[in-house]
Amino acid sequence: MKKVILTGDRPTGRMHLGHYFGSLKNRVEMQYDYETYIIIADVQALTDNFENPEKVRDNIKELALDYLSVGIDPEHTHIFIQSMIPEIAELTIYYSNLVTVSRLFRNPTTKAEVNQKQNLFGQSGEGITYGFLGYPVSQAADITCFDCEICPVGEDQAPHLEQAREIVRKFNRIYGPTLKEPETILSSTPRIKGLDGNEKMGKSLGNAIYLADDSETISKKIMQAVTDTNKIRKNDPADPNKCMVYYYHKLIENENLETVCRECKQGERGCVACKKELIQKMIEFLKPMQEKRAYYEQHPELVEKILTDGTIAAQKKAKEVMKRVRKSMKIDYDFIQKNRLQRK
Ligand code: TRP
Repeated sequence: MKKVILTGDRPTGRMHLGHYFGSLKNRVEMQYDYETYIIIADVQALTDNFENPEKVRDNIKELALDYLSVGIDPEHTHIFIQSMIPEIAELTIYYSNLVTVSRLFRNPTTKAEVNQKQNLFGQSGEGITYGFLGYPVSQAADITCFDCEICPVGEDQAPHLEQAREIVRKFNRIYGPTLKEPETILSSTPRIKGLDGNEKMGKSLGNAIYLADDSETISKKIMQAVTDTNKIRKNDPADPNKCMVYYYHKLIENENLETVCRECKQGERGCVACKKELIQKMIEFLKPMQEKRAYYEQHPELVEKILTDGTIAAQKKAKEVMKRVRKSMKIDYDFIQKNRLQRK
């Protein structure tokens, strides 16, 4: 029996190189050795987009296209939509008894997000909603509803995983051994920096290269990337480690990396030429993904089939786990089902 992996994303926008190197690449590599579920977390996305349901809906298929384009293989991975599994919502309610409100307020990721969303939750977070505060509980349900044993995530998700593990331990202590405690695997790739040198590549920061960016967009973005500010003339020597262009040459494993580095240090390479080379390499790097994406874009019925199959597989698994959960919690009223069948 293969171990179960569950991981996923909120459908709120297109994926960029930060997502690719931070998680997608790893998921593609792991999918052959594990039973893999990927959750498109639309319910979670609504916790801070409840006023924009169309944004969440529109991004579901976009996210699926991003997954398929990088090589997530529907033969090996179940991609499913969170809201289509009502068992997750049910489990969230049961878990909500096992988590204190003060513990939720202490979650560092939640805290950081409340700070970032002052327009939504107020200056000091006084307008924070019950749903937003509780989303880590719902995420614990996402994970455990499928008997997930391994949860590969980025650093920012570690507090949520820790909270999920606490919930599982408390559940098992109170109701008897029922649930598997998920093991966290943190992404080994450090955060991918933005074109502007920011420590994080992010949608809201406007410093990202998207997996679906066309040649012109890539070109425009790379031409504006931050280079060593001490280099003023074309033949000034510079420090590649202070240059985002070099950083990306390295990231996408340009086979001429040593030459790029040496020529930069010795002042034999101008930034414009160096950027032009990166543009070509970046276009080549993204090309296979974009060809795959184009194929699925031309076959939308195939994407719908993949999401349907993934959701059916997830439903089956969640039903099994919830049967156990209800039994342990003594809320399994089998007589109702029995009587119902008899009446037919
Ligand atoms: N919170 C995750 C994010 O914002 C998305 C997510 C929802 C998730 N449910 C999950 C990740 C379960 C891992 C496991 O990226």
